[in-house]
Amino acid sequence: MGKKVVIAAMPDLKKASQRRRENTKFVLDEIIIPSKLSMIVHDKKFFIRTYGCQANVLDSQNIEGILLKIGYQKVDDPLNADFVILNTCAIRENAEDKVFGEIGLLKQLKANKPDSLIAICGCMTQQPHIVDVIKKKYPQVDIIFGTHNINHLPQLIFDAITNNTRIIEVYSKEGEVIENIPCHRDDHFKAFVNIMYGCDKFCTYCIVPYTRGKQRSRKIEDILKECKDLVDQGYQEITLIGQNVNAYAKDLNLGYDFATLLEEVAKLNIPRLRFTTSHPWDFTEGMFKVIGQYKNIMPALHLPLQSGSNDVLRRMGRRYTAEDYMALVDRLRELVPDVAITTDIIVGFPNETDEDFEKTLEVVRYVKFDSAFTFIYSPRVGTPGAKMKDSISLEVKHQRFNRLVDTLAVDIKAKAETYINRIVPVLVDGCSKKNDSMLSGYTDTFKLVNFKGNQDHIGKIVNVRILEAHTYSLIGEEVDG
Ligand code: SAH
Ligand code: SF4
Ligand code: F3S
Repeated sequence: MGKKVVIAAMPDLKKASQRRRENTKFVLDEIIIPSKLSMIVHDKKFFIRTYGCQANVLDSQNIEGILLKIGYQKVDDPLNADFVILNTCAIRENAEDKVFGEIGLLKQLKANKPDSLIAICGCMTQQPHIVDVIKKKYPQVDIIFGTHNINHLPQLIFDAITNNTRIIEVYSKEGEVIENIPCHRDDHFKAFVNIMYGCDKFCTYCIVPYTRGKQRSRKIEDILKECKDLVDQGYQEITLIGQNVNAYAKDLNLGYDFATLLEEVAKLNIPRLRFTTSHPWDFTEGMFKVIGQYKNIMPALHLPLQSGSNDVLRRMGRRYTAEDYMALVDRLRELVPDVAITTDIIVGFPNETDEDFEKTLEVVRYVKFDSAFTFIYSPRVGTPGAKMKDSISLEVKHQRFNRLVDTLAVDIKAKAETYINRIVPVLVDGCSKKNDSMLSGYTDTFKLVNFKGNQDHIGKIVNVRILEAHTYSLIGEEVDG
């Protein structure tokens, strides 16, 4: 006999797509920990695996903050844990397949430790059809929660343990901004800071506006306070995070925008300031001015292109043309001559013709990207794209994908080679993953560098002479001064 399932709330894609113009509610200190919970979980261990984008990385930091506050300890091996959380991503089918594979493997954990708990959260569980599958086919999962109720986690754990039931609580409300959730950062010199949640763009291929709800910007004073604390703690790099950062504060109507925020954070004198993701449609003159003016705003911009065909861009709902995009790149290069530009491109959007695809290659050759994430279009249940007819075979999509990757690689490699013999500033992350006699870190232009250097300099910005260039990394050696 399986455990009883208690359904507190089910997600609803239709509700998730609504955008009423009500003001965002700002909520403080919403974490309520049932009084007996800390006693129950005393000495217990948790493991969390995070899939997807920076939004999930930050949510996981909040989940860790909450679990550490309750009294759990963090471990690196799921089979050693009493509580396993998978924070999932729904952006493409292959992202979801990975998670189902991992849930399958966790059966082993339940077999070894029948009292252990398994929770699934994040963007996948915001979709009703996924919750149904987990409920029916994966009885090892005890708690299903979503992106809007991380602050309820203590109560969900308490109920799952004391009532010995499975619990589903996923909301599709328009959402709030909750401040003061505990946050645990493993990294002590690089930090992500959320400036907004959700997205109102509804690009026709994308599930994010449904899984994350409406755009809700944090107030500028709350963001600045968090950034100031990080600067005071000695952090070297802050990355401002949102699905569409340059639309920041459009939902607030408080007389400030992303340019205001960027300038105020830059003035806090954080050595390195980054932001992601920018939408090509939402740039303003004020933003260009600030980007050009402050030296601690890093010369690296992630600017998703998605397609170079105006017809595909229109059907994607992207609100810019290929010409707009190229003009934007020209403008940015005038302002910041050395700026590195990276992008996201989707191939095989429904009915993308050969001509459409050739136009994407033309833009790629014009811009000469520093790096790119490339994806084959994956239909997402509930999005307009999923209802579009598609006559292009998967084989053709794969051929286009390979051509795109090869075309991108030519300029990416050529860009990397321009670094040879240059001395560049690198923020040292730690030992290189593949070879622990080497250090690794990123240049101001966000190039990965593996180099020989002084381990005492981890967490500092050092000068590195570049000796070799590969397509996706540089090799170098630290130099003095
Ligand atoms: N908010 C960001 C990133 C969103 S997700 C932005 O607006 O750019 C990251 C990338 O995943 C997108 O830029 C897009 O290239 C890709 N992506 C999103 N939905 C997809 C889908 N259904 N199929 C394939 N790729 C997708
Ligand atoms: Fe998705 Fe478009 Fe929003 Fe980015 S801007 S999260 S691609 S809907
Ligand atoms: Fe994935 Fe959700 Fe981010 S779908 S890309 S984790 S917002």
